[in-house]
Amino acid sequence: MANREGEGLHVAIIMDGNGRWAQARGLPRVAGHRAGAEAVRHIVHAAPAANIRTLSLYSFSADNWQRPQAEVDTIMRLLHEYLLTEVNRCIAHGVRLSVIGRRDRLSRMLREAIESAEAATAAAHTLHLRLAVDYSAREAIFRAACRFYKATELSRDSFARVLGEVNHDGAANVDLLIRTGGERRLSDFLLWESAYAELVFTERMWPEFTAEDLAAAVQEYRSRERRFGRAPQAVAGESPKPGYRNSNSKKIYFGLSPRSGAAANRP
Ligand code: FPP
Repeated sequence: MANREGEGLHVAIIMDGNGRWAQARGLPRVAGHRAGAEAVRHIVHAAPAANIRTLSLYSFSADNWQRPQAEVDTIMRLLHEYLLTEVNRCIAHGVRLSVIGRRDRLSRMLREAIESAEAATAAAHTLHLRLAVDYSAREAIFRAACRFYKATELSRDSFARVLGEVNHDGAANVDLLIRTGGERRLSDFLLWESAYAELVFTERMWPEFTAEDLAAAVQEYRSRERRFGRAPQAVAGESPKPGYRNSNSKKIYFGLSPRSGAAANRP
């Protein structure tokens, strides 16, 4: 099935390899995170030219709290610094900045910086930059499920809407998921949203990931045929499966809900 590239891609990146990059240079791990923050600046700048409309960056996972306190503090400081220093550049380049993940465990200072960066860039529309901070896909899905059981219409679309609320920022499908640093796993990042994402793994450590690497990953994505479970080159547009009502009068859909067309994989 053809993707709708005209609208721009949603690319998610697991920015891995900061620590190893630093260690290979005899530097402390935190130097790798500092270099990683610089790489974020370059990649955000390069994203629109690579036809990226939404860029989700895994900046701090819920499991990262288990790292040494000094390392956690450094990453939090870098995030705070990024939010403060990049707002004007974001506004100038049309970058809307938002943060997904839990906020209740972040410092008040960081929460305020997030809220103020989100408010200041809300009108921008060239690129949507989403930083995942204290993020866990499993936890987001679990929390959405806890809210969802009260819903009257049980469809994938309505679940995705609840998940989007839990995320603070929607649950748009990911087209391309890139992981740097040589590992090949998803590490609890955007599991629902990446159901049909193309995966690109690169040996490159995050601090040395360049605009050219990003363009090459997008090129690799373009070379793949996205079928969403259909036969090769199937014609899109067939009718979704009908729903039924269960004994609690909740409407349940097995496949796509009636509102969903063939393009529903890419809301
Ligand atoms: C994974 O590398 C990276 C992180 C856990 C943190 C990512 C943080 C940044 C890129 C900097 C701050 C972010 C922004 C948006 C300003 P790792 O430390 O696990 O690397 P390793 O696998 O080599 O140990």
